[in-house]
Amino acid sequence: MRSWISIVALPCVAILLAALVSVDTPAASQSAAPAVTFHKNVLPVLQKNCQSCHRPGQIGPFSMLTYKETRPWARAIKQAVVTRAMPPWFADPRYGHFNNDRSLKQADIDLIAAWVDAGAPEGNPADAPAPIAWPEGGWQIKPDVAFDLPPYPVPAKGIVEWERIAFPAPFKEDTWVASVEILPGVPAVVHHLCFGFQKHRETTPYGVYQWMDVPRDENGNMLKVDGTTTGPRSGIVLSRKAGSTEVTRRTGSPDFFHEGTNEFCYLPGLPYEDYRPVNAGMFVPAGSDMIVSLHYTTTGLAVVDRSRIGFTVTKTPPKKKFLPQDGAEGENPPVARQQANASLAIPPFADNHPGPRAEIAFLKDVELVWFRPHAHVRGKTVRYTLIHPDGREETVLYVPNYNFNWQLTYRTSIPIRKGSKMRVQFTYDNSTKNKYNPDPGAWVRYGGQSWEEMGTPNMGFLVNQDEDVTNAIIER
Ligand code: HEC
Repeated sequence: MRSWISIVALPCVAILLAALVSVDTPAASQSAAPAVTFHKNVLPVLQKNCQSCHRPGQIGPFSMLTYKETRPWARAIKQAVVTRAMPPWFADPRYGHFNNDRSLKQADIDLIAAWVDAGAPEGNPADAPAPIAWPEGGWQIKPDVAFDLPPYPVPAKGIVEWERIAFPAPFKEDTWVASVEILPGVPAVVHHLCFGFQKHRETTPYGVYQWMDVPRDENGNMLKVDGTTTGPRSGIVLSRKAGSTEVTRRTGSPDFFHEGTNEFCYLPGLPYEDYRPVNAGMFVPAGSDMIVSLHYTTTGLAVVDRSRIGFTVTKTPPKKKFLPQDGAEGENPPVARQQANASLAIPPFADNHPGPRAEIAFLKDVELVWFRPHAHVRGKTVRYTLIHPDGREETVLYVPNYNFNWQLTYRTSIPIRKGSKMRVQFTYDNSTKNKYNPDPGAWVRYGGQSWEEMGTPNMGFLVNQDEDVTNAIIER
């Protein structure tokens, strides 16, 4: 009996003591440590990590420029940073190194959490850092040249097929483009807006949208799947002049293509392209055209989209030159890609379905400067594995949690030797666990619409200016 009492009594004393200590400690440390305030401690973190999106006119749903705007969101902010849901960043930190990694440092997360736990105090406005002078008009870059696309009426319902339209490039002379930003007019309807440059051809009409008629079943699925292109094989070309509603039909193939992949893209969540930090640029010869590829989605509301494209340019050639993965005009592509897209068939309810692997062979030495993996709403993971010429394998990017709403460019710097290979593997989640899945009971095949799937392993490369890029496949 005695021993029973003492066993019970001892823990009671211990709990009492612990309670006394724990009541005491926070009070003591709070008075010792300087108070965390909005102006002094939190605002610098928000300026650096959040305001690029969280300010008026940007994609963040509320502004964090001032205390008044930020204070009502304090609890949500703590939740978002502690769970690492914000800032949006999806690369597994165990692999690779990315110079646009915007995940917060643990110290900043702890700071924000401490501030919210202390009641989100304002502090003294005199302690605040100077406000950031954000560029006008919603731009993230300060464009030297801005180009306005013609207003595009997007209907309330139905499927809008991928279209192309050409314009003369907005530069009079040979130009080095150092950064590019595409500002969607109505982000809700712009599924993608991509473009590339191409020397003008007599057969390329300006200001005319062209698209292929696509045979589809009643659910919108393409009737024919062709592994080489997302384009259908109906052989009917539709076109419409910008500003007109009159559509003309003819058989044949479109008047103009852009052989390269689209070098510059707006995709949901994709930031601008910027080669300034790496002293690189893309050369655009005088007399080039811009071939723009557009994909609008309908939202139930008819709107007119007015998207814009902004450029910063340099007169002097930068040290390095951007090389599109399919080669600049008149140049050999730096890589050869293989992927059996036509074999993509995701069964109903499959929660971890591997797509056809992309195998990419490097035909010359390059510096890999970005990854831009692209899948649609069933995309789940993507892994890029670099296979060195000696056979060594290395994961250079792993995205464990691909999110269609955040199609990020992961910027890096990886020297790659000719003879290396890159293997890219996407997986898909067609189950009910995927909250973005519009129809878990459907078979999902390759296609350009967001209810169809893709697994596109885009990458960007730089080469030194002094390299002979016109004869790119050279022996070393
Ligand atoms: C690249 C743009 C971007 C950056 C940078 C960014 N956000 Fe966001 N944030 C968004 C968008 C878009 C949403 C709404 C959609 C979503 O939640 O994904 C959002 C939503 C939020 C929400 C609302 C979540 C909810 O409960 O509705 C909070 C809180 C938030 N962000 C906090 C932050 C904080 C704090 C930072 C910086 C540490 C930050 N964000 C950085 C774009 C951004």
